[in-house]
Amino acid sequence: MIFKAGVANHVRACRARYLADSFWKQVRPRPRTLASQAGSGQQMTAGVMYNWRVAAVHNALARRGKAEGPLTIEDLTSLGHLDQYHYLGTEACDELIQVLGLEPGVTVLDVGSGIGGPARYIAHQSGCSVTGVELQADLAEEATALTKRVGLQDRVDFLIGDFADVCRSRAVLERFDHVTSLLTFCHFPNRADGLKVSWEALKPGGTVFFEDLTLMGPAFTEQEQRDLAEVVGCPSVTSPAVYVEDLQKAGFVDIEVVDMSAPWKTWTKARHVGFRQAQEETVKLHGLSLFESRCAFYEVIDRLFQGNLGGVRITARKRGVAEEKLYRGRASTVSTGTTHGTPSLNEFGITVDATYSKY
Ligand SMILES: C[S@@+](CC[C@H](N)C(=O)[O-])C[C@H]1O[C@@H](n2cnc3c(N)ncnc32)[C@H](O)[C@@H]1O
Repeated sequence: MIFKAGVANHVRACRARYLADSFWKQVRPRPRTLASQAGSGQQMTAGVMYNWRVAAVHNALARRGKAEGPLTIEDLTSLGHLDQYHYLGTEACDELIQVLGLEPGVTVLDVGSGIGGPARYIAHQSGCSVTGVELQADLAEEATALTKRVGLQDRVDFLIGDFADVCRSRAVLERFDHVTSLLTFCHFPNRADGLKVSWEALKPGGTVFFEDLTLMGPAFTEQEQRDLAEVVGCPSVTSPAVYVEDLQKAGFVDIEVVDMSAPWKTWTKARHVGFRQAQEETVKLHGLSLFESRCAFYEVIDRLFQGNLGGVRITARKRGVAEEKLYRGRASTVSTGTTHGTPSLNEFGITVDATYSKY
């Protein structure tokens, strides 16, 4: 395994105690009736806040005269964080394409695909095919609708439900060349299981590209633990070392971890400041309630990155068929290190005691 950019000196202990249940399961999809409400500046209540993203996309497209009909990829990527829910927007997707060497004909499984922005952009730029899995039905349905409007429906599709359940029940195992995930595993109550399913979904020799939150300081403070669990919905943020252990247990090899904390810290600060500066336009488009709630959220993220929160980009690999056989073959003989006690002759005709110990 390789650590890059100073991740090596992290501290393993993660004393944070988190909510046992998934945050995302608490924010089940709500009826899709917000587009017009938010657009007319009506206040949204907390109870209907969670599908604000679908409504916000509708509002923004309507404002540009594109409420219906065909769209270009740029129509969507220009919506910024309404299309790409991770950090560094399409720049991160460009790097993903480059690192994995994506090209026409290869298949990608995107874990926690949101409204489908990364899946569409990656498929459009590289020519590959992408299947997204998304827990929130309203996001996945909107992802499918937007994908059709940009004409990518033959190469990009979305499955609705919990990643592990969907993969295990829909026979998508051993089907993909690559598994990607941008800021999703941090939301899993059981990240280790998510990593195991990712490994199972890959063809032998397949690779992964994950971006995720991690503990970078010595330990989270109590306030940080609360913010992560209750505001950000992230019950499984650990140090990179614990992450790597989970990856190894899932079967991954050739693990590389790149520290993304510095660029993400700068980016999340700029997002917070920029969002506040755009108050007038945002309130006009999406309403005051949404503006205030997003401000509060972006402020918490900004503060967490000033503290013990950081992030990583992880790439790793599933062994190929021949490599797996070699690995298992070695493992099956390493304990005895003998040729079953049968003496043999060496090239000089001298008996060799085959019960030597392996080095
Ligand atoms: C921060 S968003 C990132 C979305 C997308 N990767 C992007 O960058 O635009 C995390 C997404 O993961 C989804 N998610 C969380 N837990 C999930 C699970 N167990 N199975 C599938 N999706 C999940 C959430 O609903 C949310 O859309």
